[in-house]
Amino acid sequence: MAHKVGIIGGDGIGPEVIAEGLKVIDAAGIELDTVDYDLGGSRYLKDGTVLDDATIDEWRGLDALYLGAVGTPDVPPGVIERGLLLKMRFALDLYINRRPFVAPDGSHDFIVIRENTEGTYAGEGGFLRHGTPHEIATQGSVNTRHGVERCVRYAFGLARSRPRKHLTLVHKTNVLTFAGDLWERTFNEVAADFPDVDTAYNHVDAACIYFVQSPEQYDVIVTDNLFGDILTDLGGAVSGGIGFASSANLNPEGVSMFEPVHGSAPDIAGQDKANPTAAVLSGAMMLDHLGETDAADRIRAACADTESLVGSTVEVGDLIASRL
Ligand code: IPM
Ligand code: MG
Repeated sequence: MAHKVGIIGGDGIGPEVIAEGLKVIDAAGIELDTVDYDLGGSRYLKDGTVLDDATIDEWRGLDALYLGAVGTPDVPPGVIERGLLLKMRFALDLYINRRPFVAPDGSHDFIVIRENTEGTYAGEGGFLRHGTPHEIATQGSVNTRHGVERCVRYAFGLARSRPRKHLTLVHKTNVLTFAGDLWERTFNEVAADFPDVDTAYNHVDAACIYFVQSPEQYDVIVTDNLFGDILTDLGGAVSGGIGFASSANLNPEGVSMFEPVHGSAPDIAGQDKANPTAAVLSGAMMLDHLGETDAADRIRAACADTESLVGSTVEVGDLIASRL
């Protein structure tokens, strides 16, 4: 039976890269029953729609969601990011953001597990005396034991399934003595259930150095929402470029969403210039999730020689498809 997948091409280069992802999935012999959703900044400018609850309810009946990128420069910051992407992550409780990275020469790989529903993204805070000389803005970080523990447990389980069985917690416990303490205690307590997994801890600023100088020290990393956002752009930059960085927004008990790490890149939109590989690899993560692991492995193999993946968006998509 075909897998029922909601498609949100979104804005900018989003629809272009998703088209290539769908082409590659088709070339791998996997049939998808797709439902298109016209959402993003362009749709918002058309009729004011961001994301309604009825659409979210419809998504609960799908097997997966495949998203390109959302956000347009002519919509104020936050409207689409918070109203669509974060709303989707929160409403579907996509609490794991899994972002794998492979060194350009293929010599090593590591995976960042980013908590995806809490932290500074939760939207705590607000303004007082907005727009006056005495205005105050607060934006706190929300960290629940439940939210942290389910994320940390997932990361330990993933580390256990890999040959090196190594998990690094990344935080900033020397300054964030409340949130960092909760993360560290949770991490250490869960570690007791995974005695076969080796653990390490890095402060996030130091982790930035290691990402550049010695990324091979990492196997699996677990971190909070904002640190994970920043680290995974850096992870992309040191792993061949953001054009290769894929991600899965997972609810291990529900419907999950798959999207490249990159954004809508309005500066190169509509020019057939964007690298579709990140979207293609996100499609492979979706196939893993749908149980099509053989097709997913074949797609990853077709993308492995990253230096050969040059050309226009359509050319790179064609090239990967031709290898299947
Ligand atoms: C990402 C993006 C999003 C995030 C933005 C677009 C809201 O940067 O998926 O990494 O911050 O999570
Ligand atoms: Mg980001």
